[in-house]
Amino acid sequence: MPLSLPSSAAVVVALPRALSLSAAAVAAATTSLLLISAVVSRSHHVASSSSAPPLPPSASASTTAAQAPAPAPEPDHHHPPPPPPVPPCPPNATHLVPCHEPPSGERHCPPRPPPPPHPPKDPPPHPPHPPPPPPHCRVPPPPGYRPPPPWPVRRERARYANLELPLLPSATVATGQDPVRGGAEWLVFNKGKGLRNYVDQLARVVPLRGGVVRTALDIGCGVASFGDYLLNYGVLTMSIAPKNRYGAQVQLALERGLPAMIGVLTAQRLPYPSRSFDMVHCADCLVPWTAHDGLYMLEIDRLLQPGGYWVLSTPPVSWKSGYNISNQATEDKDKQLTMDNMANKLHWTKLFENGTITVWRKPTCHLHCDQSKLLGSSPLCREDPDSAWYVNISMCITCLPRAEHANGCVDGAMEKWPKRLDAVPPRIASGEMKLTIQTYKHDSLIWEKRVNFYATYLKYLSNGTYRNVMDMSAGFGGFAAAMSKYPVWVMNVIPTNVTDNTLGAIYERGLIGTYTDWCEAFSTYPRTYDLIHANGIFSSHIHKCGIIDILVEMDRILRPGGAAIVRDRANVILKVKKDADRLQWHSRIVDTENGPLDPEKLLIVDNSLPFPGS
Ligand SMILES: *[C@@H]1O[C@H](CO)[C@@H](O)[C@H](O)[C@H]1NC(C)=O
Ligand SMILES: *[C@@H]1O[C@H](CO)[C@@H](O)[C@H](O)[C@H]1NC(C)=O
Ligand SMILES: *[C@@H]1O[C@H](CO)[C@@H](O)[C@H](O)[C@H]1NC(C)=O
Ligand SMILES: *[C@@H]1O[C@H](CO)[C@@H](O)[C@H](O)[C@H]1NC(C)=O
Ligand SMILES: *[C@@H]1O[C@H](CO)[C@@H](O)[C@H](O)[C@H]1NC(C)=O
Ligand SMILES: *[C@@H]1O[C@H](CO)[C@@H](O)[C@H](O)[C@H]1NC(C)=O
Repeated sequence: MPLSLPSSAAVVVALPRALSLSAAAVAAATTSLLLISAVVSRSHHVASSSSAPPLPPSASASTTAAQAPAPAPEPDHHHPPPPPPVPPCPPNATHLVPCHEPPSGERHCPPRPPPPPHPPKDPPPHPPHPPPPPPHCRVPPPPGYRPPPPWPVRRERARYANLELPLLPSATVATGQDPVRGGAEWLVFNKGKGLRNYVDQLARVVPLRGGVVRTALDIGCGVASFGDYLLNYGVLTMSIAPKNRYGAQVQLALERGLPAMIGVLTAQRLPYPSRSFDMVHCADCLVPWTAHDGLYMLEIDRLLQPGGYWVLSTPPVSWKSGYNISNQATEDKDKQLTMDNMANKLHWTKLFENGTITVWRKPTCHLHCDQSKLLGSSPLCREDPDSAWYVNISMCITCLPRAEHANGCVDGAMEKWPKRLDAVPPRIASGEMKLTIQTYKHDSLIWEKRVNFYATYLKYLSNGTYRNVMDMSAGFGGFAAAMSKYPVWVMNVIPTNVTDNTLGAIYERGLIGTYTDWCEAFSTYPRTYDLIHANGIFSSHIHKCGIIDILVEMDRILRPGGAAIVRDRANVILKVKKDADRLQWHSRIVDTENGPLDPEKLLIVDNSLPFPGS
């Protein structure tokens, strides 16, 4: 980001105060940890002498910890005892992100423990030993946690107690577009004059207005201020950053209600389909673009829509503060040449270059994709361009499909936003996906009806109470499209094992999403989504991992007081309800919009309601 000297000077003065404040917060946190252990040991006493009612899941860490010793149910001679509630995790798991533990930048999931052996068909009425506790626990909120304020207030402020420490590197604070600490409770975000100048400059080259650019990927996003600013242009940005020592940037972005997930360019493809983003942006994102013969640039090329824009910028600060200015300049010049060379091989057009900002554009079609001479030494990719779950990036160029439209190029095939949302995605229109246009249109109508029905249960959809929404199995994005009338954004997730990979079509509608394996942890921090929609997830995963495995992960992702809608076959919903009770969710089973004869049922979870019995 452009930096003016006065703001950096102000930061030098401001920083020690910020640091001392965070030290005070750490001290405060330590004190409350001590308090928690006092509460726990006291409540242990209480729980064993009387049977205290369970507390609502929206309660703070101290109360969650107090639930630890579950009141033992009275033995019943007619019914087997209900399975015990899932206990809370230890307090140091408050910000747990299972597959992203440092130092590995890459996603790395520990192997799953083998499933427990099946219980015998007819268990004895009084088993000699209680069954071993399941390996699950509920991630507890940090002390002092409170749900974020409603959108759009949360866009400008985030509660300090909700976030992981340490928060931000001084460099991020120094760019002048990022947070200032506003007292002990809130981080308040600047309107960012520097950012406005920067985006204004970009808008002269990239058509940010007018709906041509709708989806963007911001690599190394900081606290997603760029994505936040682009919302003013109707551009929806997926912001990604690694989980690292710089603190929880992605957590902060989501706390503000901005689309973000943990992600970093490594040897593996990013978990998005080919041709998904209208713009990819990297502002000093620390990716070594010229390393490994330009491997990472090949990945950007895969991710860009035909005619998409690639924006690479370096804040001038790195030039000014370089220890060895002359060396630095030579090295950058070499890198620049290597990148230009690579961009030529990819047939990118350089649209703009101004010392700190370079903008390239990907061709709208590869007319000569089969003529290897035009592609230099890089061969064409053979593997499925849309498969991107634990897939290595390979040294090859992803061909654009040969389009038989108008002038032989894909250009113009895509409607502008917001028409694009309801238009038939080019992948479906062109027959690339084996699906009729009628089926697709019917799907949209069904979801319109379903969401209207869901809204009768979720009364606060319109007033900003829910902002970050996840659709765990998004199909063609019909749920997200129908939700677009509310002030929410939807993370459309396509489970990795579905037979039809529809995520590309979802991006073509101007929506965003990712792949994931629901038997592993999702790439996000705890408590980052306000509402989760789970359509058919449990019946499709029942042979791969347990209902409780997926519910515990949903519980980690969902903020205290959040809501969920589970849609599945009636017999599956009954099982899900049992496990939801073990998580002490406030839930009930209801009919779908089609009434009692529908073989599917809904489980409506609304944890903002008081827990029954409290
Ligand atoms: C949390 O603390 C326990 C000991 O109380 C330790 O065994 C465990 O590794 C810690 N977990 C993390 C994620 O730091
Ligand atoms: C700066 O460059 C000179 C040679 O040009 C080199 O000897 C010196 O070690 C460099 N200093 C740093 C801090 O890199
Ligand atoms: C080039 O960048 C500088 C700041 O680095 C800016 O002042 C100037 O307006 C830019 N030029 C153009 C044509 O955008
Ligand atoms: C992917 O790359 C890593 C090294 O970066 C290598 O160890 C691994 O075997 C590769 N996987 C495949 C499937 O090629
Ligand atoms: C939204 O509605 C709920 C229920 O009426 C209310 O508790 C909440 O304060 C409302 N939020 C806003 C921002 O109006
Ligand atoms: C999911 O896909 C992986 C990789 O293709 C495969 O190994 C695994 O068996 C599949 N699982 C299911 C449940 O289909």
